[in-house]
Amino acid sequence: MTETTADHRDSYPPIAEFAAQANADATLYQRAATDRDAFWAEQAGRLHWHRPFDQVLDWTAAPVARWFVGGRLNVAYNCLDRHVLAGYGEQVAIHWEGEPGDSRTITYTELLAEVSRAANYFTRLGLTAGDRVAIYLPMIPEAIVAMLACARLGLTHSVVFAGFSPIALRQRVDDAQARLVITADGQWRRGKPAPLKTAVDEALSDGETTVEHVLVVQRTGIDAPMTAGRDLWWHETVANAAPEHEAQPFDAEHPLFILYTSGTTGKPKGILHTSGGYLTQTSYTHHYVFDHKPGQDVFWCTADIGWVTGHSYIVYGPLANRATQIVYEGTPNYPDEHRHFQIIEKYGVTIYYTAPTLIRTFMKWGSDIPAAHNLTSLRLLGSVGEPINPEAWRWYRQVIGANKTPIVDTWWQTETGAIMISPLPGVTAAKPGAAMTPLPGISAAVVDEEGKPVSLGETEANGYLVLDQPWPSMLRGIWGDMDRYRSTYWERYAAQGWYFAGDGAKLDKDGDLWVLGRVDDVMNVSGHRISTAEVESALVGHHYVAEAAVVGASDDTTGQGIVAFVILTAEAEDTGKDLIAELQSEVSREISPIAKPREIHIVPELPKTRSGKIMRRLLRDIAEGRELGDTSTLVDPGVFEAIRARKG
Ligand code: WT7
Repeated sequence: MTETTADHRDSYPPIAEFAAQANADATLYQRAATDRDAFWAEQAGRLHWHRPFDQVLDWTAAPVARWFVGGRLNVAYNCLDRHVLAGYGEQVAIHWEGEPGDSRTITYTELLAEVSRAANYFTRLGLTAGDRVAIYLPMIPEAIVAMLACARLGLTHSVVFAGFSPIALRQRVDDAQARLVITADGQWRRGKPAPLKTAVDEALSDGETTVEHVLVVQRTGIDAPMTAGRDLWWHETVANAAPEHEAQPFDAEHPLFILYTSGTTGKPKGILHTSGGYLTQTSYTHHYVFDHKPGQDVFWCTADIGWVTGHSYIVYGPLANRATQIVYEGTPNYPDEHRHFQIIEKYGVTIYYTAPTLIRTFMKWGSDIPAAHNLTSLRLLGSVGEPINPEAWRWYRQVIGANKTPIVDTWWQTETGAIMISPLPGVTAAKPGAAMTPLPGISAAVVDEEGKPVSLGETEANGYLVLDQPWPSMLRGIWGDMDRYRSTYWERYAAQGWYFAGDGAKLDKDGDLWVLGRVDDVMNVSGHRISTAEVESALVGHHYVAEAAVVGASDDTTGQGIVAFVILTAEAEDTGKDLIAELQSEVSREISPIAKPREIHIVPELPKTRSGKIMRRLLRDIAEGRELGDTSTLVDPGVFEAIRARKG
């Protein structure tokens, strides 16, 4: 990070004009604190319930919560039908921008018809509530249609980021035992079509699978061989199905989706989310944190639907709140670095939500680029995915936000389902770099190893972020592995019954919260969670690698960059190949290009403790060029000289 000075006195009080029209006001905190259950019941009232709930929260089976017990609802009905029935069918739901420059405008009426067609066709395929469907699609409207059609039928979707490898896809399809995979022929990459369907073929080629059908959207026209009996074209099937479909209600705790995320071991965790609580909190947070006004705002969350941010703030939160939003298929620098600003200008985007890594990239490209566009429509900016450095925060507000927009730095996780800690625009005096305070109805603490609250103003990263009360959109488990659910999140503070978030944090003298980043072996690269173990296992899977240790080293643009240290096998000697490049592409192939190490160092030995544990902390010191920390527990402190010498 270029600058780390975080001054707790540097704060930006709300501007009166914004505060006067804000959805939030300070009494929300008070009301939530006085009666939590009543507060959340009121938020659940934002939704349409086919049957009202009898009880707000049942926590008797902790750590598995049941929210809005007895309530029945249909998530897709809440995102579509009720807006159309209320007379807003002609409002634009999605302004979609394709990467090659094509675009589509989709109203709520049209989106409902498309989702209904898909729901009718999925039913014809024999899928019934509870079945799992894998969605492996680029950022095209069909991705959202597919998710909502699943929600409508009570099918549990598992969206797999289309940048993931066939191996990663197969792992996820198998774990969830998906019956259907939805994909596209290809995806646009910088003006050229790249194959995608063939990745599904490769994923499913070996051995028995639970997949009965592969449904293929034609997006690029690239060659996509179809397997008779298994593969179906979307435009020959879904597109011809009837556009009317009556939504049935499901239990508030009906599984809505599984989303895989990296943990501290190599195997990704299938985070399970359910319906009523999840939709309540995504709707609530989208309304207050983004100050969203239906029918007026143009909302743009730049995430991919392959991540939780896309689930909660492209699909469920905004659509439940009748937003008009931008969905963009491409990257920020194709055909050039103006793309995002052109889109903001073209559609008059009012709320823009992105990641610090992109903000820092914009900074590098220079202020001239945004300055060439009329960005005056913007009235609120958001940040998510990693701590935002104060310098990037100030640039974001000054250059993109014309020195007037509130910035919401939103802390949350795949596991939390929705935003948990954030300023409230119009209420909070935000500080650059701080996520500030838990939202009304949310409770968090910063504690030490024993669970004692850390004292205010401590600057060292000795505090751990915990959530000490259940919340509506909390995960309900890890798919197929409830033991891992308990041990990962609930064991550390079992005595207190707190959720351990895996992040370090501190509270400043005013009691405001600063998230400092992961304290486990999970890296954060451009806001993507990647575990060191996953990358290590991809590396040792290569026959040239005997041992590997991976660390996340700080990186000016991506937050962290992946640095690997490997010991080679005898086989690797004298191959004459570019070993580093080969190992980098091995990781891309096994996991995804996002997991490709920035640097790979070939070393003679790895630093280990007497119990054989790799000392990643010391490797991080080396990777970041720091003086070495305490090496006293090392078996052989001399190993560093050897590593340093090889690293050069
Ligand atoms: C991890 C969760 C939440 C959607 C995107 C990432 C880090 C996230 C912030 C923030 C500091 C943040 C944490 C967290 N993180 N937002 N505003 N400030 N850190 O979801 O992939 O589940 O990653 O991202 O380390 O634990 P995810």
